[in-house]
Amino acid sequence: MKDLYKDKCKSINRFRPSIGHQNNAITRLLVLVAVFVLGFMFMMVTCWLNLYMFSGQPIPKFQTKEVHDFPLECLAWNKTLSCPNNYPTTHDNLDHSSFNTCPEYFRWIHEDLRRWRGTGITRDMVEVAKRSAHFRLIILDGKAYVETFRKSIQTRDLFTLWGFQQLLRLYPGRIPDVELMFDCDDRPVFNIKQYFRRPNPGPPPLFKYCSDPWSLDIVSPDWSFWGWPETNLKPWEMTLKDIKEGNKRVNWKDRIPFAYWRGNPSVSPVRADLVKCNVNNTHNVDWDTRLFIQDWINESVHGYKNSNIEDQCTYRYKIYIEGWSWSVSEKYIMACDSPTLYITPRFYTFFARGMSPLQHFWPIRSTDMCKSLKFAIEWGNNHTSKAQEIGEASSRFIQEDMKMEYVYDYMLHLLTEYAKLLKFKPTLPPNAVELCSESMVCFADGKWRRFMEDSLVRYPTSATPCTMPPPYDPTTIKAIIDNRTRAIKQVEMWEDEYWKNQHLKH
Ligand SMILES: *[C@@H]1O[C@H](CO)[C@@H](O)[C@H](O)[C@H]1NC(C)=O
Ligand SMILES: *[C@@H]1O[C@H](CO)[C@@H](O)[C@H](O)[C@H]1NC(C)=O
Ligand SMILES: *[C@@H]1O[C@H](CO)[C@@H](O)[C@H](O)[C@H]1NC(C)=O
Ligand SMILES: *[C@@H]1O[C@H](CO)[C@@H](O)[C@H](O)[C@H]1NC(C)=O
Ligand SMILES: *[C@@H]1O[C@H](CO)[C@@H](O)[C@H](O)[C@H]1NC(C)=O
Repeated sequence: MKDLYKDKCKSINRFRPSIGHQNNAITRLLVLVAVFVLGFMFMMVTCWLNLYMFSGQPIPKFQTKEVHDFPLECLAWNKTLSCPNNYPTTHDNLDHSSFNTCPEYFRWIHEDLRRWRGTGITRDMVEVAKRSAHFRLIILDGKAYVETFRKSIQTRDLFTLWGFQQLLRLYPGRIPDVELMFDCDDRPVFNIKQYFRRPNPGPPPLFKYCSDPWSLDIVSPDWSFWGWPETNLKPWEMTLKDIKEGNKRVNWKDRIPFAYWRGNPSVSPVRADLVKCNVNNTHNVDWDTRLFIQDWINESVHGYKNSNIEDQCTYRYKIYIEGWSWSVSEKYIMACDSPTLYITPRFYTFFARGMSPLQHFWPIRSTDMCKSLKFAIEWGNNHTSKAQEIGEASSRFIQEDMKMEYVYDYMLHLLTEYAKLLKFKPTLPPNAVELCSESMVCFADGKWRRFMEDSLVRYPTSATPCTMPPPYDPTTIKAIIDNRTRAIKQVEMWEDEYWKNQHLKH
């Protein structure tokens, strides 16, 4: 495209001498000349704009807004294999009226990094984390580089890196220099107890999609926020819109008064237990659940007809259950306006700690699940306004506190707080490669390419990031945990009471 415009500009330059020959003509001609010169200037400006500002864009575009768009430049990338350098490196046009405090769950960033608060993070600690990492991400002067150690399953690594790359495009000049290890597998790796015994180099900081209370791992948003092509899950921003639309289709009260789940039960024993609660699993027993086994291979063959997220909000209750570790389905399930029956989890994602039992979900025991589910559904159908409130609270949490802007803000604050702890200057290892959106998308195709194009950040935001809330003090953390335990115990008491009475009746 660039060459095309250069040629166009050259051909205009060739007209230049002919302007001089208009001298001997009189008034009429002078007008013509004026028009011509104006036209010429106009075209020069157009050429200039095209070359230096909108290079790569097919049609000259005069934008009235201050926002300049920076689309992908795959033609240039294809020729030079070097990352474009026209993207802004600083952040201006800031809208300072938009100050707001980040959602409460951001405060857990301080908790996740607390183990390093005393010692800082040394290079030795980072190198210990390498043992389990898929890649090392280095950010230097606003540019991202990656050193790859091994391939992740599917394209988790690609979409995770894509996410960090888009963060850099959203907030140029704001992301500090960092060096971090990222592991794209499911389960947390580094047990807390092991790393505080001396002598050792100290706790390794490893970025993961989920962690648990016994692990050191630092949680970061998973790849699916930018899309999961292997299961046809579109980027979060688009899915969220679809779910909002889907929610309008059926009023909560008109939804099927049972609990819905669709998934693959073979990934964990607790899921295998869950499907035993299905209707018709046991003769003459209906636990009020409707469970569907997802066969991903058949779904991919049939164009994912049954797995549209927005079509799954037609039941009054939805079940969330972990798989081999946390499940990506969590955010989709909880956005449905139907209360989530949340089977006691072991793991947490970066946002899960912002939700509380009875406020955002209904807790379900993982032992004696069927009875627990049956009670919850009956309770909800007896107390519809309370049930509806729970469903709406989790939808609000997911749709507002977890909109894509906050996902990026979370990453920004996580990297900023992490960078403050680094005791060494990040450097480029010899085999690191520079990342830019072009290097990731231009050779991709199909859904992989489309999802990246759809989640591309086209220009820096004009909004300031939300303000990071302060760390919790220990008594508040204790109060939050006690509150959760109390709510869960409360539900278990109601449940026990109910089933005791059922037995008496029989
Ligand atoms: C890059 O160039 C090759 C060969 O010239 C061509 O086949 C391919 O389609 C181009 N890719 C893009 C993204 O333009
Ligand atoms: C369960 O069995 C009943 C009676 O046999 C049948 O009508 C119903 O469709 C079955 N439900 C499901 C979800 O398979
Ligand atoms: C595969 O999917 C199609 C379309 O969704 C469905 O009709 C069919 O029953 C499924 N087959 C199996 C074996 O699950
Ligand atoms: C729901 O209401 C029915 C009828 O009042 C009652 O028999 C049942 O025990 C209630 N169930 C729960 C879980 O509240
Ligand atoms: C504990 O729960 C109560 C009532 O559910 C609530 O008002 C209070 O704010 C909670 N405290 C904390 C620290 O979450």
